[in-house]
Amino acid sequence: MAPAPGNFSQPKPAIRIRKMTENDLGEADRVTRLAFGTFLKLPDPMAFMGASDYIRTRWKADPDAAFVALSGDELVGSVFVTSWGSVGFFGPLTVRPDFWDQGVARLLMEPVLECFSRWKTRHGGLFTFATSPKHLGLYQRYGFWPRFLTAILSRPVSTGDENLSYDLLSERTAGEGKKIISSCRQLTEKILEGLDLSREIKAVQVQGLGETVLIFEKNELAAFAVCHCGPGTEAGKDVCYIKFAAVAPSADAPKYFDRMIRACSSLAKRKKLGGLTAGVNFSRQEAYHQLLEMGFRIDTLGVAMQRPNEAGYNHPGVFLLDDWR
Ligand SMILES: CC(C)(COP(=O)(O)OP(=O)(O)OC[C@H]1O[C@@H](n2cnc3c(N)ncnc32)[C@H](O)[C@@H]1OP(=O)(O)O)[C@@H](O)C(=O)NCCC(=O)NCCS
Repeated sequence: MAPAPGNFSQPKPAIRIRKMTENDLGEADRVTRLAFGTFLKLPDPMAFMGASDYIRTRWKADPDAAFVALSGDELVGSVFVTSWGSVGFFGPLTVRPDFWDQGVARLLMEPVLECFSRWKTRHGGLFTFATSPKHLGLYQRYGFWPRFLTAILSRPVSTGDENLSYDLLSERTAGEGKKIISSCRQLTEKILEGLDLSREIKAVQVQGLGETVLIFEKNELAAFAVCHCGPGTEAGKDVCYIKFAAVAPSADAPKYFDRMIRACSSLAKRKKLGGLTAGVNFSRQEAYHQLLEMGFRIDTLGVAMQRPNEAGYNHPGVFLLDDWR
């Protein structure tokens, strides 16, 4: 039987996966906003992410770890992979809505797993919608299992922290900067073997995305926070976003955690930003409780999925902020 008029569907060309290039950035950004905005049923799907940028910043941070899916020469999906030493995570992973449920995300998972295997990633992870059977089912196929929820919290920037003592990496010489980045690595090593945030710190430095806040105690690095500030970064308009922060394990960790948050708040004030945002996995109970005590409120919840199904640094006693978005 002939199809009804107007009901012809053209066969779609096979999907190819390749590395993202600079020319892809505009369309990758558009498809990412459209995919999330459509999934979340926003009245204007393109409003998703507002003035935040994940696409250009992540591509610039590591162009070898960003991939696109193409149908013919049309970009229909993309994914970014991040190496933090022994820890790796991926996202945003997005597919253009008219290509959903046709196996495109599964094809994009292949380069993700290749990166993890090339990097010898020991703890792989992602942040996703905790209530979506599709998302959980998709990632479980690849050995990522849902563990604790991760909350994204925020609070308005408060006054009173102006006289706090802290340092900014951007105010140090290049030589000092190198030593400090290596101190940051030594600090995170004490939390989890091989955890290394050098890539994130350098991305902020090189791309001018914000600042790395440093808390020293008697010349020893006690805590640091990698912050994105304002539009064109992962923070977005009027926000200072703590993309990653960690405190050296010790009995005094709660004290330095408090100081670090207040230092980030002070930085936000200096940058004339109105809000402070940070993510924490609920398994890091003390850090979560302390954020609540400091006036943070939850904006969004997701679930951390991990491969293998092990805690990594997501366990009590760890004063670390991140969210793997
Ligand atoms: C999530 C997203 C990337 C998936 O892309 P996709 O190309 O539609 O996914 P695929 O067709 O490759 O894979 C879908 C898989 O999900 C799983 N799945 C779907 N529905 C499921 C359900 N109800 N229960 C369990 N698993 C399910 C299956 O494994 C399925 O593969 P299969 O049909 O071959 O078994 C896409 O929907 C998207 O862009 N959404 C908006 C943005 C987003 O949420 N990104 C992910 C953020 S973590």
